[in-house]
Parts: sequence; C-alpha cells; structure tokens
Amino acid sequence: MNKATIKDIDLKEKSVLVRVDFNVPLDSQRNVTDDTRIRAALSTIQYLMDQGCRIILMSHLGRPEGKYEAKYSMEPVAKRLSELLHKEVKQAKDCTSQETKQMAKELKSGEILLLENTRFYPGETKNDKELSKELAALGEVFVNDAFGAAHRAHSSTVGVAEYIPAVAGLLLEKELSVLTEALETPARPFTAIIGGAKVSDKIAVLENLVNKVDNLIIGGGMANTFLKSRGVNMADSLVEEDKLELAKAIEEKANTLGVNLLLPVDMVIAQEMNEEAQTQVIRGDVPEGYKALDIGPASAEAFAQIIRNSALVLWNGPMGVFEIDKFARGTEVVAKAMAECEGKTIIGGGDSVAAVEKVGVAHSIYHISTGGGASLEFLEGKVLPGVAALKDK
Ligand code: 3PG
Repeated sequence: MNKATIKDIDLKEKSVLVRVDFNVPLDSQRNVTDDTRIRAALSTIQYLMDQGCRIILMSHLGRPEGKYEAKYSMEPVAKRLSELLHKEVKQAKDCTSQETKQMAKELKSGEILLLENTRFYPGETKNDKELSKELAALGEVFVNDAFGAAHRAHSSTVGVAEYIPAVAGLLLEKELSVLTEALETPARPFTAIIGGAKVSDKIAVLENLVNKVDNLIIGGGMANTFLKSRGVNMADSLVEEDKLELAKAIEEKANTLGVNLLLPVDMVIAQEMNEEAQTQVIRGDVPEGYKALDIGPASAEAFAQIIRNSALVLWNGPMGVFEIDKFARGTEVVAKAMAECEGKTIIGGGDSVAAVEKVGVAHSIYHISTGGGASLEFLEGKVLPGVAALKDK
C-alpha cells in the first residue's frame, strides 16, 4: 500500500485520534446485535495501547441529522468495546465541548476515550473546516481505521487529516491490500459473483470488473434484466427496462474480452413473494403471472462448480430473495461453495455476509469486508476520499 500506516511512524506515548466505523446494528433495547465492526478495530486499538498511546476513538452511528438523538448515542458501543477489551472505555458526552477536551487531555498512557456520535454535528457530513479543526485538536496524530466510512468525505474521515499527520490503521490497511490485490494482481482463474436486486446499484462495479475477471457470474434480481436483454420473457419479475441496453453492452464487452459471463439457466418462480408461496423450478421463459425469485438448482450447482475451481472469488449480493427461506437456497449453495473453494475468497456487502453466517461458514472465508458502500465504490475503481487524505508512505 502506498499510504503510511501506524507502523510507519513513531506513536510512542502519543495522543492519537482514531476514526473507526462503529456503525453497528442495535436491537430495540439498544444492545449491539453484531459486533463484527468493533472486533475488527481491536488490532489497531491493541497496537496503540501497546505503544502507550492515549487513544481517542470517534465514529458515526446511524444517520442522525446533525443533532443529538439518544437512540444514536454511542453508549452501547462503549459498553461492548469495554467488554471485548476487558478494560474501561471512557465515554464523552459529545465531541468538542471543553469537558471533552479536558477528558482527552487527562487520558493516561493506554487509556481509551470514545467520543459521541460524530453525526450529532451538522458539520460532520459537510466536511466542515471548523469541526475538523476542533476534532483534530484532540490528538497529535490521526489514524483512519474506518474502511466502512472511507467513501465518505466527512470531517472525521477527511477534514481532520488537514490539520495533523494522518495514517491508516491496520484494518483499513488490510481491507485495501486484499481488495487492491484482487483488482490489480488477481490469482487466476478470478471469478466475480454479483447479485442483489438491481443492476442500477452495481453498474459501475460490473463495468469495472468485466475488465479484470475470467468469470463474471450474475445472479439475483439483477440477472432478470440480463436475461430479458437476451430475449427471455421474465413476466412479473423485477426487470429494469431502462437498463436492458446496458446489460447487453456488458455482455458484449465480456464476449469481446473473452470473459465467461454466466447467467442462471434455471429459476425458482412463484406468483407471490412470501413464505406460503407455491414455487416451481423452470428453464427459459417465465410464465405470465409469475416472477423469478431465486436461481434454480442447476444454476446454483454450475455457479458453485466455477467458484470451487477458482483461485480467487469475489462475491457481492445474494442470488435470490434471501430473507425468505423458500428463495434462499441459491444464496446458500453459493455460500457453501465459497467455503469449499481452496483459493482466496472475498465477500463484501451485508446480505452475502449474512448468508455465510447463516450457513455457518464465515470462518472459512479468506476476507469478509467490513465495508458495504465503501467496498462497492472501491470495486468500481474509485479512489476513496478517506484513503486519499492519508499521508503517502
Ligand atoms: C456503512 O454502514 O456502510 C458505513 O458505516 C457508512 O454508513 P453511511 O452509509 O450512513 O455513511
């Protein structure tokens, strides 16, 4: 990686301001229901503790609109982090008050302070200079470890880097090195399997990946638009009529480049999208009154075989309406094949991550990205502003 990391500079006993992505799901009692992102930040926090740093952590949580809202407070996160570290995590009431500045100043070597939600400030999402300056004043060095928020040009991800030296944390470094290797020097055969409801969400990802992969597998609702562009009748299935030409263009590009583009050869269809629906497996045209809601067993097996025989697989997006058991089978078969693949497997995007967790194979995946939007933007070939703002090596 061409950006400096916490290992490249002397951090001994320094006061370090760290942007993490602690945007985690909470239940109605405000308990953290998935602490993956908190765990993912532990290596950086531990490293900084070992260096005797005074650690000031900051993150957003949810999308509050620039003012305090109790339901978006970082309190449950502080509690969970403290349990994971077996150590007190001090909690600030805000990010910039005199009291918070004092708390940051009084931290002792190895102690941790978690600021309140950065999005309680209207300046955060505007990358406001004043807010950036105030945040930066809390530390001597800025560490960005929030890969999940690196596609946001906000005060806590970009603005602060103008005022104090800014380097990457270990999670950010790992995410970038795995994804960069996939895009720039992939092991071959390299397969990308892209699903999800809409082509429109992933146009740029498909357009970029078609230049890089050996196999491009398209499943999920997106495949409907590709199938229709080939002339298959999709009846009541979700189809983006305005993306038919684009789907055709991506297929043509794949053909020109010698990329093996695979679409489902069979589909699970139903009249209704619910648990009680009567399902059928069909090949070819979808009968009137029906919609395609999952890939069929023959497609799932064909996709699985390619995945198992790849040296590198990148998966983003489910193969069907995964939330409904009847339409989850295709996604589950793909999840299992990912686990069986002996090459490197990379997963980005909430639903695919949920699928490998549901099937119980998450531990067999080489890399599960903590970024949803951020990993997609990276795969589109974009430079993430939170990364661009960091010091070069
Ligand atoms: C995410 O959950 O993808 C990140 O934390 C970014 O959140 P945002 O989409 O609200 O900026």
